[in-house]
Amino acid sequence: MASEKFVSRHIGPRNGDIKTMLETVGAPSLDALIEETIPSDIRLEKDLDLPEALSEYEYFAKIKGIAAKNKLFRTFIGQGYYDTITPAVIQRNILENPGWYTPYTPYQAEVSQGRLEALLNFQTMVLDLTKMELANCSLLDEATAVGESMYMMMGLRSRAKKKAGANKVFVDQNIYTQTLDVLNTRANPLGIELIVGDYKSFEFDEAVFGAIVQYPAANGSIEDYADFVERAHASDALVSVAADLMSLVLLTPPGEWGADIVVGTTQRFGIPMGYGGPHAAYLACREAYKRNVPGRIIGVTKDAQGNHAVRMALQTREQHIKREKATSNICTAQALLATMAGFYGAYHGAEGLTRIAKHIHAGAGELSEGVKALGYTQNVENFFDTIEVVLPEGVAMEDIRNAALEAEMNFRYIDEKTVGISSDEKISKEEINTILNIFAKAAGKEVEAKEAEEKVYFDGKFSRTSDFLTLDVFNRYRSETAMMRYMKNLEKKDIGLNTSMISLGSCTMKLNSAVSMLPMSWPEFGGIHPFVPMNQVEGYTDMISELEKWLSEITGFAGCTLQPNSGAAGEYTGLMVIREYHISRGEGHRNVVLIPSSAHGTNPASVTVAGMKPVIVKCDENGNVEFDDLKAKAEKHAEDLCAYMITYPSTHGVFETGIKEMMNLIHENGGQVYMDGANMNAQVGLTNPGLIGADVCHLNLHKTFSIPHGGGGPGVGPIGVAEHLVQFLPSHKCVKTGGENAITAVAAAPFGSASVLPITYGYIAMLGAEGLTEATKMAILNANYLSSSFQKLGFKILYTGENGRVGHEMIFDCREFNKSVGITDTDIAKRLMDYGFHAPTLSFPVHGTLMVEPTESEPLEELDRFIEALAKINEEMKEIEDGVADTVDNVLKNAPHTHKVLTADEWNHTYTRQKAVYPLKWVADNKFWPTVGRVDDAFGDRNLMCTCAPLEVYNEEYVDAD
Ligand SMILES: Cc1ncc(COP(=O)(O)O)c(C=O)c1O
Repeated sequence: MASEKFVSRHIGPRNGDIKTMLETVGAPSLDALIEETIPSDIRLEKDLDLPEALSEYEYFAKIKGIAAKNKLFRTFIGQGYYDTITPAVIQRNILENPGWYTPYTPYQAEVSQGRLEALLNFQTMVLDLTKMELANCSLLDEATAVGESMYMMMGLRSRAKKKAGANKVFVDQNIYTQTLDVLNTRANPLGIELIVGDYKSFEFDEAVFGAIVQYPAANGSIEDYADFVERAHASDALVSVAADLMSLVLLTPPGEWGADIVVGTTQRFGIPMGYGGPHAAYLACREAYKRNVPGRIIGVTKDAQGNHAVRMALQTREQHIKREKATSNICTAQALLATMAGFYGAYHGAEGLTRIAKHIHAGAGELSEGVKALGYTQNVENFFDTIEVVLPEGVAMEDIRNAALEAEMNFRYIDEKTVGISSDEKISKEEINTILNIFAKAAGKEVEAKEAEEKVYFDGKFSRTSDFLTLDVFNRYRSETAMMRYMKNLEKKDIGLNTSMISLGSCTMKLNSAVSMLPMSWPEFGGIHPFVPMNQVEGYTDMISELEKWLSEITGFAGCTLQPNSGAAGEYTGLMVIREYHISRGEGHRNVVLIPSSAHGTNPASVTVAGMKPVIVKCDENGNVEFDDLKAKAEKHAEDLCAYMITYPSTHGVFETGIKEMMNLIHENGGQVYMDGANMNAQVGLTNPGLIGADVCHLNLHKTFSIPHGGGGPGVGPIGVAEHLVQFLPSHKCVKTGGENAITAVAAAPFGSASVLPITYGYIAMLGAEGLTEATKMAILNANYLSSSFQKLGFKILYTGENGRVGHEMIFDCREFNKSVGITDTDIAKRLMDYGFHAPTLSFPVHGTLMVEPTESEPLEELDRFIEALAKINEEMKEIEDGVADTVDNVLKNAPHTHKVLTADEWNHTYTRQKAVYPLKWVADNKFWPTVGRVDDAFGDRNLMCTCAPLEVYNEEYVDAD
């Protein structure tokens, strides 16, 4: 029995506050408010069937017990996952620090300079190691990154290739199994034909537009692809290389032998294996391809005062914003993990990475020499970290396997005669000895003691000669003190949830409780390779199956998969499951997906990459789907109708009343209903997608279910599905998952980003049915409290439900201010920074508006501060209207105000310094100082620079090149 309830820690307002808030809202009770908000025909009639809530202390004990069921063996399986040492300074100051894990994606650059710089370091490290020209700041995992590179190559086909209908991609057979699995999934719906074969003998023809190779190859072999690349280019085809970034410390980088795109994982840069994730994948390419790059690119620009600043480059062209023209649906990626990998590079620098890479290499080398001396054949001639050992006659694989298990070690058992071993950063002399003794014993021999000599186990032609990580940032922070201060210095530049409310609509920036975060850094969760035998992951298996059950209960569905790594990846998975369902019924031609115009950009982008056709449905002036238009389009496309994607409550923050009717309409016309569950925070415990009539729904665990945003990832996007779709849930070639008629894998790891699942598991376990429902009600109350307060101030709330209520978020309209006083939504967003707040969601889903979502975690005092800030901003706008303040030189247009501006000798403004930075008394108590003024996006895009600048630049003023 729980002593102290977690729910009271999770929910912001105190019991005594609720009455006051309800008075403001004008509702007699919380339940009455909920009744006015959620249509009665979709309300759940019974409580969720979940275990009784645990206290924090009880949960801690429970998750410790689960962790103890995982067996922490030393794993040498490799194949994209390697044990690594997370420097403690990174674990403590980044991974376990809310200053780094709670911020959102850095759309508001002025309050995100810290993580933007950290991500720029990541990009610079990737570019240095790959020797390419342009890198993004992470993708979801290596396999999906290879998939993204395939989309890119398709988008970059020459006119001649397009004309010839080129639709084939060559994939070298020596590629990771999971990568090929995901490539198969992705190629199929786009009509791309994969030709798997040997790169040495492959002959290009006009139908082939791209090729993919692994470097070093999956069996460990370092291959010379230079000739192959030349042949590809001669045939007008591009080459994407999946490269192990650590190996590039010692090997000739792909950029020096002609690669067009280089992708891979950065897991071994200090990120625990985590039973498959999360880890940051990287993508680097030629600069000429910048418009085709998936995901986010960080770039350098200047601020309003001409100072150096960093921001998301080409932001407005972020792939998914291209909607139906997108060639990728990526939105949330792996920012926190990319940040960690970048710091790993900065902490070690070129010399440290070289030491680590040589250590890894030497480990593999000693093993290779050792097994050969014992009479085994070692198959791989040129290798970095992976060898393949062939057993001689008379040696049984079972003996090797049993001895390895006894020594608590995992190898890769390739076939009856061959075993693979991959070395890693942690490998020690003792472990090498243990491994060799296993092989010796199986062969009835003894290991000969031999002094290891420093040797290189690959041909000299593969040796890297170019330097890397020469910039200051990679050479400056070698002591822990220096690194700790650098991290703190960056952290201070950003607003996270440990500073103030982040009221980003559609993002659900709620508490990420400390207790639920703790297990993320435990080795029993972090130190596990995704392909270990199932009897070593009993803890994970129990937790995953329980979590799948709970999420199914919450969504009202029959089954669930945790494989997708983000909301958009969930969308893609859901659509692919629907596609398979239609195919199974002989209706594979169904490919039209109806999407309301208010949908998030990832919806049409996911439809496009799933090879389907998005058809946009109109919304009326209240933000609701125009039923007549939906009906007309559903009927018009009845023959080809595949699905309808709807966000509920809508991205306008409203529970549309006609939702059931819409579901029926779609089903009657042969389609399936996909619910975008990004707004589940308004549903949990009160209604659910299954009850409403949807067939599939993705959840953003990094929203509703409390996984932190990490400055742009990790994300987890499980999908729940109705009974008839369970059989199609995704499988995985390395570990059994999914339904009987499963689609192939959608992510590199069988359970996606498994090591962050304890966060959601803890969230549900500690809230239980009652607490979850309470949280939803409070999210709705907090939103309605803000909405009523804003309206009292004269702000216009754009959309409300039939009873004048908003759901868990609201849009307030700023377009009038633009007309009356020339103040835009951006000006208000930037001015809020002077008050210490992160801006709400800007211009989504409606241009010229701000979308606010407070979540249940924000206390009443914080909501009141936010209201007061907006009231004051309202006054500031009135001053412009009344001619008291200048139309150009005013606090809004010049926001945010930096410390540098404030303390400059000159102050030429028409308002005071006090007004600029301390507009309200309490602002001074917790003053947040943006470190740059308003950033100049256009300048940065015209002068695209996506690597760290040399040190001098930080002190120089920028001069516009144009
Ligand atoms: C309504 C909606 N759908 C889908 C997504 C995509 O989710 P993710 O960023 O995890 O890919 C978002 C992200 O913010 C969203 O708000």
